[in-house]
Amino acid sequence: MRSLIKKISHPFLKLGLRLYYWKPRTFCYDNICIKVHPDVFPPQLTLSTKILLDFVNELDLKNNTFLELGCGSGIISLLAAKNGANVTASDVNKIALAFLEINALKNNLQLKIIYSDLFDNLKNQTFDYIIINPPYYPKKPKNTKEQAWFCGENFEYFEKLFIQLPNYLASSNCYMILSQDCEIEKIKAIALKNTMAFELAYEKKKLVETNYIFSISSS
Ligand SMILES: C[S@@+](CC[C@H](N)C(=O)[O-])C[C@H]1O[C@@H](n2cnc3c(N)ncnc32)[C@H](O)[C@@H]1O
Repeated sequence: MRSLIKKISHPFLKLGLRLYYWKPRTFCYDNICIKVHPDVFPPQLTLSTKILLDFVNELDLKNNTFLELGCGSGIISLLAAKNGANVTASDVNKIALAFLEINALKNNLQLKIIYSDLFDNLKNQTFDYIIINPPYYPKKPKNTKEQAWFCGENFEYFEKLFIQLPNYLASSNCYMILSQDCEIEKIKAIALKNTMAFELAYEKKKLVETNYIFSISSS
């Protein structure tokens, strides 16, 4: 689905997408309703967020610390907060963070919202759960909006992530969603270089795309 949106090149389809997403759109899950700004990764138009929402909803999060690294709309963070977690939501997209603050207030949910390039502003903290829905297409993002999709020509997002992540893994359950549409073996190899291993925790085929949730641990 993410691939479909990325590959939309027909002028009518492009126009249709622009007409639909020219203003903030509402997205709801489990009685949490949020407005999503057009410059923010669209959970309503992709599969990965919905699959992660179903996955996170099954976790026993009560009184656990929970980080959504790259929270985008923050709907996953809000669900975790609703389910009793002590939540931190981080991103580099300031519009996403501003909207999340309003959406949290409207849903009467509390969480910590932090501007951070990966773990740069999250140092010396530990989390019981870390959830990541990463950008995974190998292209240089032109702006913040594109950082939701592109991880850099040479997978720079993953290179930095997997250097930082081991410092947080000892006490964390870390889950990352990836699609069949991305270069999973390349991403796994970057993790392995930094002594991390992937184990398949959940697999979901929807429409034409299979998504995988991997549990990441120190190898
Ligand atoms: C695929 S979207 C997922 C958004 C949200 N977690 C979800 O599942 O709907 C990836 C998110 O990661 C953020 N992101 C990209 N690079 C980042 C970085 N270096 N540090 C923090 N967040 C980043 C993007 O701004 C975007 O919101």
